[in-house]
Amino acid sequence: MKKMFLKLVLLCLCLWRLDGVIGESVSVNEGDSVSLNSGLTEMKDDDVIQWRFGDENTVIAEINVTAGRITVYDDVLDGRFRDRLKLDNQTGSLTITNTRTDHTGYYKLQINSEIKRFGLYVYRVSGEAELVMEGDSVSLNSGLTEMKDDDVIQWRFGDENTVIAEINVTAGRITVYDDVLDGRFRDRLKLDNQTGSLTITNTTTEHAGDYILQINRKIKRFFLNVFVLELVKERDSVSLNSGLTEMKDDDVIQWRFGNKNTVIAEINVTADRITVYDDVLDGRFRDRLKLDNQTGSLTITNTTTEHAGYYRLKINSEIKRFRLIVIDEVKSVSVKEGDSVSLNSDLTEMKDDDVIQWRFGDENTLIAEINKRADRITVYDDVLDGRFRDRLKLDNQTGSLTITNTTTEHDGDYKLLVFRKILLIKIIQSFCL
Ligand SMILES: *[C@@H]1O[C@H](CO)[C@@H](O)[C@H](O)[C@H]1NC(C)=O
Ligand SMILES: *[C@@H]1O[C@H](CO)[C@@H](O)[C@H](O)[C@H]1NC(C)=O
Ligand SMILES: *[C@@H]1O[C@H](CO)[C@@H](O)[C@H](O)[C@H]1NC(C)=O
Ligand SMILES: *[C@@H]1O[C@H](CO)[C@@H](O)[C@H](O)[C@H]1NC(C)=O
Ligand SMILES: *[C@@H]1O[C@H](CO)[C@@H](O)[C@H](O)[C@H]1NC(C)=O
Ligand SMILES: *[C@@H]1O[C@H](CO)[C@@H](O)[C@H](O)[C@H]1NC(C)=O
Ligand SMILES: *[C@@H]1O[C@H](CO)[C@@H](O)[C@H](O)[C@H]1NC(C)=O
Ligand SMILES: *[C@@H]1O[C@H](CO)[C@@H](O)[C@H](O)[C@H]1NC(C)=O
Ligand SMILES: *[C@@H]1O[C@H](CO)[C@@H](O)[C@H](O)[C@H]1NC(C)=O
Ligand SMILES: *[C@@H]1O[C@H](CO)[C@@H](O)[C@H](O)[C@H]1NC(C)=O
Repeated sequence: MKKMFLKLVLLCLCLWRLDGVIGESVSVNEGDSVSLNSGLTEMKDDDVIQWRFGDENTVIAEINVTAGRITVYDDVLDGRFRDRLKLDNQTGSLTITNTRTDHTGYYKLQINSEIKRFGLYVYRVSGEAELVMEGDSVSLNSGLTEMKDDDVIQWRFGDENTVIAEINVTAGRITVYDDVLDGRFRDRLKLDNQTGSLTITNTTTEHAGDYILQINRKIKRFFLNVFVLELVKERDSVSLNSGLTEMKDDDVIQWRFGNKNTVIAEINVTADRITVYDDVLDGRFRDRLKLDNQTGSLTITNTTTEHAGYYRLKINSEIKRFRLIVIDEVKSVSVKEGDSVSLNSDLTEMKDDDVIQWRFGDENTLIAEINKRADRITVYDDVLDGRFRDRLKLDNQTGSLTITNTTTEHDGDYKLLVFRKILLIKIIQSFCL
C-alpha cells in the first residue's frame, strides 16, 4: 500500500476546549497542563491566597505574603497532585501539569475574603483511534456488543444536532444521512449494524466537532478534534495552509497561537486590513510571519522551537487547528553503499499506548510503525517505488530501525515520531544518510 502524506492529522476523540483563557470552566485532555488564573497581576503585602480542591475543600496550595510563605500540599488526597502543582509566586495562579482524570472537579481560589471558582474537566483519552493521518479513518465506539430488538440508535453531529446516521432495530432500518451539511460526510460514514459504532473515513478538519450518540434514552458524547500536523526543521520555513483559494468580501481571518490563544495575524477584508502582530509573546514571531493576502495562509520563516505548538485559524466562524512540530535535533550518520545502518531511537522504554513512527524524506512518508495500542508492528516497504523493499528491520523492543544494503536512494531525513497519549511529544532524531 502506498502511503504518502505531506500532512498528518491528529485526531482526538475527546473533549478539547483548550481555549487558553480560563474563566470558570475548562476541559483538557488527560496529560495536558492547565492553568487556573487568579486574575491578579501582583500580590499585596497582606494577601493570603489559598487554593482548595473538591467536595472536601482540601487545601492544595497557599501563599501567605506576610509570612513570606508559599506552600504546595501535593501529598494530600492520596498524592494525586504530587509533583504536578506549580504556584506562581507573582500572581498566585495555579498550574496543574500532566493532568489525570481524578483532577476533575471544582477548584476554589480564596484571595483574602474573596472566592473564585473554577470547574476543571479532564477527559480520558480513548485508547484507540485518536491518532490518524489525514485521510484515515476514526471509529466512534458505541460501547455496545450487540443490539436488542427494540433499540433505536441515532448519531448526531455539530451545533445543530444534525442526524447523520440511525438504526431502528424494530423497523429493521439502517440509515446513513451523508448528504446533510453540504455533503461533508458523503461516502465517509460506515455504521456497524451489529454494534452501532460509527466510522468516519477520509477525515478532514470539517469533521471536527461534537458527536452525540443516542441509544434509546441514553446519551453518549464524543468530541472529535482534527489537527493538521506540520513538521519543520529548525530554521526552515513552514506554511500553514488555510485551504482557501481566495477571499470573499466579508471574510475575517484570524490566526492565533499557543495556550493563551494570542492573536498573531488577522485579515479583515471589509476593512481592507491585513495585520501581523509579531511583537506579541516576547517578539518570538518578529519578522518571521508572512500572511498571504489572497489565501490567508500563514508562513513562519526561520522557525525555532519557540514556534512549536498549536495554531488556530478562524475563518469567519469556522476553526481549523494546526500542531507545529519544530525539529531541533538532527543527528547525522553516514554509511557506505551496500552496508547496513541502524538508526537508534534512544528510547529507554516504550509505554503501552505509544505509537512510534519512522518517516522518510521531505514528504514524511511513513515507512515503519509500532502501534502498541493496536498491538501492531508494520513496515511499509512498498512505498516510494519499493526502494526500501526487504531492507527495513524494526526492533520491536527499542523502536530502532535498521536499513540493510543501502543505496544512494536511501539518502535523506529519517524522522522518528513518538506519540504518547494524543499528543506527539517529540521528534527524537532526523538522520541524513
Ligand atoms: C499569615 O502569616 C502571618 C504571619 O506569620 C500570620 O499572622 C497569619 O495568621 C497568616 N495567615 C493565615 C491565613 O494563615
Ligand atoms: C518566585 O519564583 C521565582 C521563579 O520561580 C524565584 O526565582 C523567586 O525566588 C520566587 N520568589 C519567592 C519569594 O519565592
Ligand atoms: C422505529 O420503527 C418502529 C417500526 O417501524 C416505529 O414504530 C418507531 O416509531 C420507530 N422509532 C423511531 C424512534 O423512529
Ligand atoms: C449487517 O452488515 C453485514 C456486513 O456489512 C451484512 O452482511 C448484513 O446483511 C447486515 N445486516 C443487516 C440486518 O443489515
Ligand atoms: C479524501 O477526501 C479528499 C477531499 O477531502 C478527496 O480529494 C480524496 O479523493 C478522498 N480520498 C479518498 C480515498 O476517498
Ligand atoms: C472588520 O472591519 C469592519 C469595517 O471596518 C468592521 O465593521 C468589523 O467589525 C471588522 N470585523 C472584525 C471581526 O474585526
Ligand atoms: C497582496 O500581496 C501582494 C504581494 O505580496 C502585493 O503586491 C499586494 O499589494 C497585496 N494586496 C493587498 C490588498 O495588500
Ligand atoms: C534566524 O533566527 C536566528 C535566531 O533565532 C537568528 O540568529 C538568525 O539570524 C535568523 N536567520 C535569518 C536568516 O533571519
Ligand atoms: C518482537 O521481535 C521478536 C524477535 O524479532 C519476536 O520473537 C517477537 O514475537 C516480536 N514481538 C512482537 C509483539 O511482534
Ligand atoms: C543489494 O541491493 C542490490 C540492488 O540495489 C542488489 O542487486 C543486491 O543483490 C542486494 N544485495 C543483497 C545482499 O541483498
